[in-house]
Amino acid sequence: MKALKDAVKGVLRAAQRRRRVSELEATVEHVRPAQITADLRGLGIGPGDVVFVHSSLKSLGFVEGGAAGALDAMWEAVQPGGTLVMPTFYMLGTIYETCRDPDYVFDPRKLGSNLGALPDTFLKRPGVRRSIHPTHSVSAIGPQAEFIVGDHHRAPSTFGEGSPWHRFTQLDGKLLGLGITMGPVTYYHHVEDMLGEAFPIKVWMDETYSLRCTDFDGQPLRVPVRPFPPELMSRRIDHPSQDALRARFREEFLRRGLLHTGRVARADAWWIQARAFHDALVEMSRVGKTIYGWPQS
Ligand SMILES: CC(C)(COP(=O)(O)OP(=O)(O)OC[C@H]1O[C@@H](n2cnc3c(N)ncnc32)[C@H](O)[C@@H]1OP(=O)(O)O)[C@@H](O)C(=O)NCCC(=O)NCCS
Repeated sequence: MKALKDAVKGVLRAAQRRRRVSELEATVEHVRPAQITADLRGLGIGPGDVVFVHSSLKSLGFVEGGAAGALDAMWEAVQPGGTLVMPTFYMLGTIYETCRDPDYVFDPRKLGSNLGALPDTFLKRPGVRRSIHPTHSVSAIGPQAEFIVGDHHRAPSTFGEGSPWHRFTQLDGKLLGLGITMGPVTYYHHVEDMLGEAFPIKVWMDETYSLRCTDFDGQPLRVPVRPFPPELMSRRIDHPSQDALRARFREEFLRRGLLHTGRVARADAWWIQARAFHDALVEMSRVGKTIYGWPQS
């Protein structure tokens, strides 16, 4: 009975999605992938770059060729020699809920991502490498892909040494926001993991969970995960109530001359160089400017 209900729900969802796409196609400005490539180049993304993208497909306009067309355009922008990286996280609700589910096993061959249309489509593209991580799997394509994702499951913490964010920083990549604010940016947690006790706020729960995964041959692995304390979530920069904090971050990085901003098709876009971002976030944390709050002036 449950299987039948799920099947019906799936069919209804797919029909709803199709209706929605037709609606967008009829009402929103059409965008060709070549325009996305040209705009990315104009913004400062170019051949050989290593680009970590957080994205909203809808923000670009109605992209001809859909998510695949947008991804082709991004790939073209970094050719020759560039590498594209996307978050392809999968989890069961929150990190904590995922850690508490005794039946959960992350199989990178079978599980998709729950971070939007572009990461979802990216994950299925030939040649994309995916990291083995039960909550924060990252995917990449290009000459640096294996270096970026290959050791995530061996990293002592999700975002720290040996993680894709660490490797991305070593390569001094460009963090690109397409149609998103400075809220949903996982990179912030890299700085927290690297600073550890020196970070001014306790951002991790006490317990580290050892979650089950499989590798690409189906062999079992265990990967350590330490959840965020749930009480911090409403203070965090990606919480819907934190517009002011997001604006402060944007102003801070503009003031420092680090944030490059512009338009890509219809989307507001920005990028920032990884090492400069890292160093600024460390500096800011020393004066209490974090993604959990800003000092009173
Ligand atoms: C949440 C988020 C993904 C929503 O963005 P979005 O554009 O609404 O959603 P997606 O990127 O999944 O794209 C799906 C949308 O594109 C639309 N779409 C479908 N075909 C399309 C096309 N050819 N061109 C443009 N849009 C299209 C879909 O209809 C859907 O919109 P709808 O929900 O209004 O129907 C985005 O705001 C965000 O936060 N991105 C960053 C996520 C992230 O990286 N998080 C990690 C850090 S915590």
